[in-house]
Amino acid sequence: MTKRFNDQDWVNEMRIRLDVNNMFTDKVGEEQGLTREEVDKLQQRVSQAHKNMEEADLGFMKLPFEQAEVVKEIKELAGELAGKIENFVVLGIGGSALGNIALQTALNDPYYNYAEEMRDGYPRLFVPDNVDPVRFQSLLDLLDLEKTVFNVITKSGGTAETMSQFLITRQAVARELGEDKVADHFIATTSKDSGYLIEIARRERFKTFYIPEDVGGRFSVLTPVGLLSAAVCGIDIDELLAGAASMAERCRTEDLWQNPAYLNGVLQYLAYQKGKTLSVMMPYAHALKDVADWYRQLWAESLGKEVDREGNIVNVGPTPIKALGTTDQHSQAQLYMEGPFDKVITFLEVENYGVEVKIPKLYEDIEGVSYLGGHTLNELIQTEKNATELALTKRGRLNATITLPEVNEFTMGQLLYMLELQTALVGELFNINAFNQPGVELGKHYTYGVLGRKGYADKREEYFSRPEKDQNLII
Ligand code: PA5
Repeated sequence: MTKRFNDQDWVNEMRIRLDVNNMFTDKVGEEQGLTREEVDKLQQRVSQAHKNMEEADLGFMKLPFEQAEVVKEIKELAGELAGKIENFVVLGIGGSALGNIALQTALNDPYYNYAEEMRDGYPRLFVPDNVDPVRFQSLLDLLDLEKTVFNVITKSGGTAETMSQFLITRQAVARELGEDKVADHFIATTSKDSGYLIEIARRERFKTFYIPEDVGGRFSVLTPVGLLSAAVCGIDIDELLAGAASMAERCRTEDLWQNPAYLNGVLQYLAYQKGKTLSVMMPYAHALKDVADWYRQLWAESLGKEVDREGNIVNVGPTPIKALGTTDQHSQAQLYMEGPFDKVITFLEVENYGVEVKIPKLYEDIEGVSYLGGHTLNELIQTEKNATELALTKRGRLNATITLPEVNEFTMGQLLYMLELQTALVGELFNINAFNQPGVELGKHYTYGVLGRKGYADKREEYFSRPEKDQNLII
């Protein structure tokens, strides 16, 4: 079957766009805005960063081009499962879950899990992404285990939340269906050569997919981590990767005025230097709501760092905030309009929603309601975005817009890749390691100590000898 991405006209039509007009002084005023000269001054550092990233041969940058074999394997498995199972459950957390959710929300029907006719024979997808006991038990109660496959995803192969979910579901499957059926209901997606999950998967003979060693969790949506659940739920992963590849090609230039990932990265970096330390992502499409959630992790874990590459204490990192238009116009917008000048807002907008919903002409005698009649929800949401953008700009609030001609696999591939590259670039500009997360280790180690994991006795002791809380401060 000829794929749409082989048609150059369609590819051009589906190119996502970045509009950065409202980041500059001529639109938001001298006091808050950035200047083109400030951007130009960073070209040399961007060129160096470009070289560094190429030389580092970053794993996520190769993904759109080097996965033909595993993609084939994923599609084969997805084909085998289609029509046979009712539920596909991802057991994972953070980078091993958020990309799956973002793809599902973006590319499948909003009520995909609720009605069979929305799913076209594909299974429901569940990604608990947490260990809340109520929600997890409720999921277990809901699932017909006979018709369920669990994909256990953990790059390290030992994350407490994921392994607990696995232990619970494995026991449930063995009890209900029998030990000999366990391997039919579990897939392991993990590192090939390290971690406990691979050891278990080999012992249990689980179907296994590997996460490339040089791709970190939050950059792994375009590996089997995100691709498998997408394919199993009917998403075209060839088109997704083709979209990412087209963005990667577009970003081969080091010229930051031509490279959307670099231009947006540089502007975010400059805004941060000017005190805009909060970075809001605000899609005006429910489909993109969880892209903002995925991006929040990508941005926070990659850029929030204590030390730079030379070991100097820097404590940097913009705080990502997710919002949703128009919902958060009635929740957050007041703060964005009149609160401190500490934010930069990135809108995500969609040109063609794929459906048009007309607002009927009713109550023609009531002017405050009747003006809506004859318009569409599409016009309403798009006008509200434009109106919010204009109002923010007039108030000197920095904002940019990424436009998706429509939400499909190809545009999603472009968007995800662009945001990953943008993050890596900003890491370079901050001179930090964007690919580690040392800050989350201490909390994990206390948990291990308390739960009795070997090797963490000191942390257990520290935990239990922590200072008493002043009861007067608990009211
Ligand atoms: O981006 C990351 O590396 C993290 O958010 C991880 O994805 C998360 O902690 C889960 O780790 P793992 O896949 O090893 O279970």
